[in-house]
Amino acid sequence: MLVDSHCHLDFDSLQSDIEGVMARAREAGVERMVTISTRIKRFDEITAIAERFENVYCSVGTHPHNAHEELDIDVEEIVRLSAHPKCVAIGEAGLDYHYDNSPRDAQETGFRRHIAAARETGLPLVIHAREADDDVAAILEEETGKGAFPFVLHCFSSGPELAKRGLALGGYVSFSGIVTFNSAKAVQEVARTVPADRMLVETDAPYLAPVPHRGQSNEPGFVRNTAEFVAKLRDMAFEELAETTTANFDRLFAKAAR
Ligand code: NI
Repeated sequence: MLVDSHCHLDFDSLQSDIEGVMARAREAGVERMVTISTRIKRFDEITAIAERFENVYCSVGTHPHNAHEELDIDVEEIVRLSAHPKCVAIGEAGLDYHYDNSPRDAQETGFRRHIAAARETGLPLVIHAREADDDVAAILEEETGKGAFPFVLHCFSSGPELAKRGLALGGYVSFSGIVTFNSAKAVQEVARTVPADRMLVETDAPYLAPVPHRGQSNEPGFVRNTAEFVAKLRDMAFEELAETTTANFDRLFAKAAR
C-alpha cells in the first residue's frame, strides 16, 4: 500500500472528476493522501475535502508564491487551525526564487512563521524549495538551533547539498514525478542514496506527472509510477519500497498514522 504525501485535490482539474481520481488511486494501491494547503485563507476548501474522504488528510499553510498575501496571519493562527482533526502537517511553505511571485522578504517571513508553528505543534513542516537551496538550508540550520522541528523537503528537485544538510537536521526527502524524468540525473542520484528511513513519494498533483503519464494532469494514483521507478533505482522490490515509504510517512505524519 502506498501513500501520496503531497497532492492538491482542491485544484479544478482534480475536483472536476474527484470520484474518478479517488477510485483510480484505490486501484493503484494508494491508501491515503495528504492534500496540501497553499493559502490559509482558503483552508475551508481544503478541510471540506479532508472531511469528505476518510483516507484524505490535509495541511495548513501558505505557499511561498502567496506569502505576500498572507502576512497578516500569525503563528498562533496557523497553530489554531492545525488543530483540525484531519490536519496532519504545516505548509507548504519555503522559498521559491525561480518564480519570485512574492518578494523574498515576505517568503522568508512566512517560512519562519511556519517553522515556528511546526516547532510548537510538533506537526511536520512541508517545505517548498526552488532555486533557493542555500537560503533554505541556512534558515533550517538556524531555526533548528532554536529548537528542533520535523520537516520534509517536498518535491525534491535540488542538488545533493540541500539533501545532505536537510538529512543532517533529521529531515525527510520526498520524490515526485520529477525523479522519473530523463533529465533529472542529480535527483535520481539523491533518490538512490538517501537513507531508506528518510524517503517519501508524492505526486504534487495536478503538476509533474511521472513517466509514462508526462503531459497529463497528475493524480494520486500515479504515485505508483514514481514508487516503481525509485524502487528500481535502489534495486529494491516495489513492495518493499511501498512498505518503507508508508512506514516513514506514519512516523513523520504521525497524526495520520494507522
Ligand atoms: Ni505542492
